This record gives sequence, C-alpha cells and structure tokens, in this order.
Amino acid sequence: MSDANIKIALLGTGIYAESDYVPSLLQDSQKHIEVKIIWSLDQTAAQRFADQFKAAGRAELQVAIGEAGIEQILNDTEIDAVVVVLPFAHQPPLIKRFWAAGKHVLSEKPIERDIEAGLAFVKEFEDNWKPKNLVWRVAEDYDHEPIHKRAAELLADPAMGPVLFWDLQNQNYCPDGDKWQATSWRNVPDYQGGFCLDGGVHSIAMLRVVLPDPPASVIASASLHRKHTPPHDTIVALVLPDSGATKEPSGTSSKLDIARQHSAKLPEPGRSTPAGTITFTWALPNIEPRAPQNLQVLNITCLNGKLTLVNNEGTRTLEVVPAIGSQVKAVKETSRKKGVEVELAYFARAVQATKAGRPIDPKEDFGKPMNTVWDVAVIQAMLQSNGEKVDIKQLIAQYA
Ligand SMILES: NC(=O)c1ccc[n+]([C@@H]2O[C@H](COP(=O)([O-])OP(=O)(O)OC[C@H]3O[C@@H](n4cnc5c(N)ncnc54)[C@H](O)[C@@H]3O)[C@@H](O)[C@H]2O)c1
Repeated sequence: MSDANIKIALLGTGIYAESDYVPSLLQDSQKHIEVKIIWSLDQTAAQRFADQFKAAGRAELQVAIGEAGIEQILNDTEIDAVVVVLPFAHQPPLIKRFWAAGKHVLSEKPIERDIEAGLAFVKEFEDNWKPKNLVWRVAEDYDHEPIHKRAAELLADPAMGPVLFWDLQNQNYCPDGDKWQATSWRNVPDYQGGFCLDGGVHSIAMLRVVLPDPPASVIASASLHRKHTPPHDTIVALVLPDSGATKEPSGTSSKLDIARQHSAKLPEPGRSTPAGTITFTWALPNIEPRAPQNLQVLNITCLNGKLTLVNNEGTRTLEVVPAIGSQVKAVKETSRKKGVEVELAYFARAVQATKAGRPIDPKEDFGKPMNTVWDVAVIQAMLQSNGEKVDIKQLIAQYA
C-alpha cells in the first residue's frame, strides 16, 4: 500500500514563498504533498496564494490569518507538517509551538542569527522533539541542488587530481529600494552581517556540499561600503582547509639538470594546500549589463582540470575543462534551479517514512539543522575575523 500524501500548512506569503514555493508545490512531480492551509499576517496576500492553487486545479486552500490562524493550524489534527517561509528571526518561537503540537517542520534558512542561538535551537530539537519522531529540516536549497552534488561527484573523480585552490564570488548589485532590501527585516536587520548572512549562507552551503576539503579557518575583512545595506555588505576572505588537507606537491622534480645542480641553494619547498578565497558583496556599482551582476561563481582548480559552477538567477551551469593530455572528460551541463522542489519532495518522503515507521532514505537526508549552524558559523567567523585567523570548529565549540 502506498503512503498517503502529507498534509501541510504553508506559512508566509512573502517574495520567496510566492516566487519559489508556490511553483514548486504546484509541480505535478510534487505528488506527496497536499497543501491544506495557507497562513499569513495579510488576508489579501493569503487569498492571492489560495487563488493560485485554485487556478491550477487544486483543492481549495483554507486561509489562516494571524495568531488565530496559528491556533487553527496547531489544533488541526490533519496537518502533518508546516513549511515555514518567514523572516528567519521570527521563525524559532513559532517552530517550537509546532513541535509541541506534534507537527513536522521544514523551515527556511538561515537556521538562526548566530552560532549560539543555532546550537540552542538544535539542542532543543534533539533533546525534546527528535525522540518523539519529529522531522525537522532547514530549507537550504543549495544543500539539495542536484547540480551541486554532481559537481562534488566530478571532483571526486581521481582523474581530476587534488584541488589546488578555489575562489567563490557572490557579487550583487543592490540599489536602495531593491525588492529584497525593501523587506522590513532586511532593510533594518537586527542580525549580524545583513545580506552577508541572509544571502551568504547559501554560498557556504554550496562549499560544504562541493569541496572535498571544506573551510576550517578564515582570515577575513568585513566592510560596509554603502550606508543603505547595514551592518556589513562585503566580505573578502582567505579560507584554509584543515591541516590534514595539505599534501606534498604533485608530480616529480624538474627533469632539467639545471634545477638539480642548484638544488642545494633552493629555499625550503612549499606544500600543496587547497586554500580558497571568498568575495561576498552587495555593494557592486550598477554596471549592467556586464557580468558579474547578481552572479555566483565558484571556480575550483584541480591538478588536471578546472571546474566552474555558475549560479545566475534561475540557471545553474557546471563546466569541467580538462587539462590537455589528461584523462579528465569535458563537461558542460545547465539546469534550472531545483533546490526547493527537491527539498520539498525529500521532506515529504521523510515524513511519510517516519509516519510509517520506516527509516529515512539516507540518499534524501539533507537540510540537517547542524550543518546549517556550520554555514552560519563560517559567516560569523568571517565577520569577526578582522584580519585575524579564526578556527571555525573552535568558534563553534565556544558556544557548545
Ligand atoms: N532559499 C533562498 O534562496 C531564499 C531566498 C529568499 C528568501 N529566503 C528565505 O525565505 C524567508 C522569507 O523571505 P522573503 O524574502 O520571502 O521575506 P518577505 O519579507 O517577502 O516575506 C516574509 C513573510 O513573513 C511575513 N512576516 C513579516 N513579519 C512577520 C512576523 N513578525 N511574524 C510572522 N510573519 C511575518 C510577511 O508578511 C511575509 O508573508 C526568509 O527566511 C529568507 O531567508 C530564502
């Protein structure tokens, strides 16, 4: 017998819920989820969402508003799960109420405003609600994006050889009044980093998924270049992996005699550390239509080729350029962004499995809350660094 659909309430009728959740939930492939309730502070917006589901031939949604609407969802025994797409700092108190009512939760990133709050949030879930078989995932779409997993697989191909170095750019033009910046909670943020946290966690999640040796420490400088995007709109960082990632240089010593004759005079040779650099900015000048504008680019240079991931608005491109004479195969793949529809489907199947007493499929077990605390920790480390080296594990341990 196949599992029944899970019934959910969608909380939030803001920009992102409308641009990404509604289309993802309306996809034919999204067959495990039935949206029963749309919740908002705003009746008109909630009705607009309900109308979109009706126009797509779906069952009529119930509209739930404000505190009375939250009570309605908490008391609705048919609701298995809530999908929370609210300003992230307002999510935790609500999520805790849903856990207490026995609801599974998929909640938008960042998990919390800083490491301390993120760890406390995860601890509360692990201690009290996970043992009651509740599923909680953080909706980090970059953690679920299939093309990022594909990039990780290509890097694992021994033919590519080790990573030598990488650079990540998340560069954005954000004029005063930009649609994202104009949301009240981004316009006057009460959390560290502003856009560097809200938009930066995605890029860090991408590094976590793609790099064989993820960041272990950072040396960074954080700036506010434009007064309308406080508290920081730019981070420039040098990122180092764990010391175990440093290897002997590849290949053999030079076959030219000249090098051997003078080798006694050579300074101590270096070793091979797969370090990287990060540039995050929401302070680009308006240089349209020339790239980079609202562009994320991750370049990873390996011994025998170069892998590039480009996220440009809704399109993801993955390219591998082989070194001449290497065994590496050239790759060029393009995909529309799919993270939200994948995370919804994985979440629904995890809830179905849990309800049926089956284990969750490990191949679909992403959006782990602790991983998204790590994403916040890397941003916090870069914001705090001020030119000093910050060890990410040690920073997290300070709050554990
Ligand atoms: N994964 C991504 O790529 C991505 C992109 C954009 C936003 N997001 C995330 O989605 C969430 C929503 O972002 P958005 O840009 O749609 O924001 P938004 O401001 O457009 O929408 C937020 C919604 O929350 C409501 N709201 C505002 N204040 C509230 C409060 N105090 N309590 C309850 N509800 C409140 C608003 O009425 C609106 O319905 C955020 O957590 C954000 O980080 C993710």
